[in-house]
Amino acid sequence: MAEVLVFDSKEAGAAVVADHIAALVRRVPTATLGVATGSTPLPVYAALAERAAAGTDFTRASAFALDEYVGLPAGHPESYRSVIDREVTGPLGLDPEHVRVPDGSETGIETAGERYEQAIIAGGGVDVQLLGIGTTGHLGFNEPGSSFASLTRVKTLTEQTRRDNARFFDSLNDVPMHCVTQGLGTILRARHLVLLAFGEGKAEAIAGAVEGPVSASMPGSAIQLHPHVTVVLDDAAASAL
Ligand code: GLP
Repeated sequence: MAEVLVFDSKEAGAAVVADHIAALVRRVPTATLGVATGSTPLPVYAALAERAAAGTDFTRASAFALDEYVGLPAGHPESYRSVIDREVTGPLGLDPEHVRVPDGSETGIETAGERYEQAIIAGGGVDVQLLGIGTTGHLGFNEPGSSFASLTRVKTLTEQTRRDNARFFDSLNDVPMHCVTQGLGTILRARHLVLLAFGEGKAEAIAGAVEGPVSASMPGSAIQLHPHVTVVLDDAAASAL
C-alpha cells in the first residue's frame, strides 16, 4: 500500500519531497535520481535549487530522465533534454556528464532503448524516481495498454497526450508523434517511487492509480506492485480518493 500524503498546496508537497531528496544526497552524495518532465515536478526542482543554494552538494549525484520525444532537433527548447538541463542540471549544479536522457534522435532510434537500459544498470539503478501522471494515467509515456514488464522503447503518443502537451509547442502539429520512454518495468526497478499530482484534472487518474484495479488499462496502477511508494498530492488531486 502506497503512503499517500495530501497537502494544501503543491509548494508544501514539493518542499517535503525536496527535503527528502536533499537528505538522501547529503547521506549518499553519489545518489541516482530519476527525474520527470511535465509541469508537475517543477516546484520540486525549484525547492531543490533552493536546497542547492543553501549548501546541499549535488555535484556527485546522477540523474536519469524518464522519456524523450523522437525527432526534435538538438537544442529544441521543448526536448526533454533541454527541459532537464534548464530545470534540473543547471539549477541543482549536477555534472552534465552524469545526467542521461533517452536518445530521441532518429538515427539512434533502433538502439536507444537497449542503450538506456544498460546505462541505468551500469549506474547502479535509480534510488528515488519522481513521477507525474498523465490524464490518461500514463507514467513516463507508457500509455494505457503498456505491459507492466516493459523496458525502455519507442512508443507512439496517444492523441490525448499530444493534445495535453500541445501547450508547450506552437501548435498540435508540432508535437512529435513518437517518444522513447522507460517502460513500466524499468520504472518499477527504482528503489523508491514518488508519484506527484496537483490539481483536479489529475484526481481521476490518481484514484485509478492508487485505489483502482491493477490493470494495464491504467498504467499508474503499476505503482501498487512496488514495495516503496510515496504519493504526494494537493487536496484537489486527492479529491476522488
Ligand atoms: C508528460 C510526461 C510525463 C508527465 C505527464 C504529466 O507527457 N511524459 O512524464 O508525468 O505528461 O504532465 P504534467 O505534469 O505537465 O501534467
